[in-house]
Amino acid sequence: MINNHIKSKMKIALIFGTRPEAIKMAPVYHTLKKNNIDVKVISTGQHKEMLYQVLNLFEIEPDYELKIMKEGQNLSELTSRLVEKLENVIKKEKFDFILVQGDTTSAFVGALVGFYNKVPIGHIEAGLRTGDIYSPFPEEANRKLIGNIAKVHFAPTSINVNNLLKEGYNKESILEIGNTVIDALYWVKKNKSSDLEQIREKYNLKDKKYILMTMHRRENWGKPMRDALKGIRKYLEENKELYLVFPMHLNPTVRKVIKEELDRFERKILIEPLEYLEFISIMDGSHFIMTDSGGVQEEAPSLGKPTLVLRDTTERPEAIEAGTAKLVGTSSENIYNFMKLLEGDLYKEMSRTNNPYGDGKTSEKILHYLLED
Ligand code: UD1
Ligand code: UDP
Repeated sequence: MINNHIKSKMKIALIFGTRPEAIKMAPVYHTLKKNNIDVKVISTGQHKEMLYQVLNLFEIEPDYELKIMKEGQNLSELTSRLVEKLENVIKKEKFDFILVQGDTTSAFVGALVGFYNKVPIGHIEAGLRTGDIYSPFPEEANRKLIGNIAKVHFAPTSINVNNLLKEGYNKESILEIGNTVIDALYWVKKNKSSDLEQIREKYNLKDKKYILMTMHRRENWGKPMRDALKGIRKYLEENKELYLVFPMHLNPTVRKVIKEELDRFERKILIEPLEYLEFISIMDGSHFIMTDSGGVQEEAPSLGKPTLVLRDTTERPEAIEAGTAKLVGTSSENIYNFMKLLEGDLYKEMSRTNNPYGDGKTSEKILHYLLED
């Protein structure tokens, strides 16, 4: 078979550093490995504990660990540490192709340093846009910047493809292939067993009806997050059968606000970041979900869980169009009202299982591109 991209002994790098990238890169890693591709994992270590949880679950041992995380890191120092460390590895290894995923600083700098070294870049999860470079911040800018220097754009949906076409990208460089997050979800369900009852017991959730919440985005730090939590608290005060389960991101800025705002609210279960398998199980057992997370917005429709998106914009309109998610912003009143609306018929309508983000075969499509295109 003619093989334009991967000739024998060609080397592919996967560069990633945060929890969601690791989850979404894990199936790509296993697919490439299974097909005897020389794949090297460069873990930037932008995250530490939250990244190790994923690497352990998916049995990935990085070839390089750059260990750059510092507590309360800001974007500039993170970027500069990363440029220097990645340059050394990329210069030394002489990769033939680099794959990055999504819109984090690790993905952006991985693509940038690859580009400086004239290595072709493949962008997984390309073409997501809100149209506002400050929301999400800095992710909207990161993904646009990666797009500019990528050779191939692996776009999850037709909406993402259209975003790229509108920006003038060549049709030949865009592939609509779904999102690898669905591959990860299926992989975990197939290869790792989970006992929801056991997990519920471990987190003291047995026989409890609960809302699952996560919130961490930079543009929500401070007031938006406080407002959102006030609205949620007000609703929960009136609905005594409901608990709030909140696996808290390790960012100290985020945790401080959560703890302060929920201090005097009793029916909360504040927990450390969950291992992916546990998180999926707890999603599955929840009444509904409230989140500003990108990945959770993609997984929830597959599990048929109504999702209130705690943001003003989303680059993932597919679930909203499918009717399983609502964009509710961060104002306490709006959130309270939406939570009330879920008491009616809307709940059933939003609980339909839907799968706009892929069929679980996205990693294979990436492999085929690399092998055959
Ligand atoms: C990053 C990504 C964001 C993604 C999120 C996923 C950027 C700019 N942001 O944001 O797009 O949605 O990851 O969670 O790339 N921390 C730990 N241990 C960990 C992880 C984080 O202690 O395992 C703490 C550290 O104090 C760290 C802080 O969290 O400085 C922030 O981490 P950082 O990666 O800079 O930002 P996130 O908000 O996690
Ligand atoms: N997740 C997890 N444990 C948690 C919370 C989330 O494994 O305690 C998973 C979740 O299923 C999703 C991903 O982490 O796949 C989302 O990560 P995050 O919200 O940190 O980042 P985002 O997707 O917003 O970039």
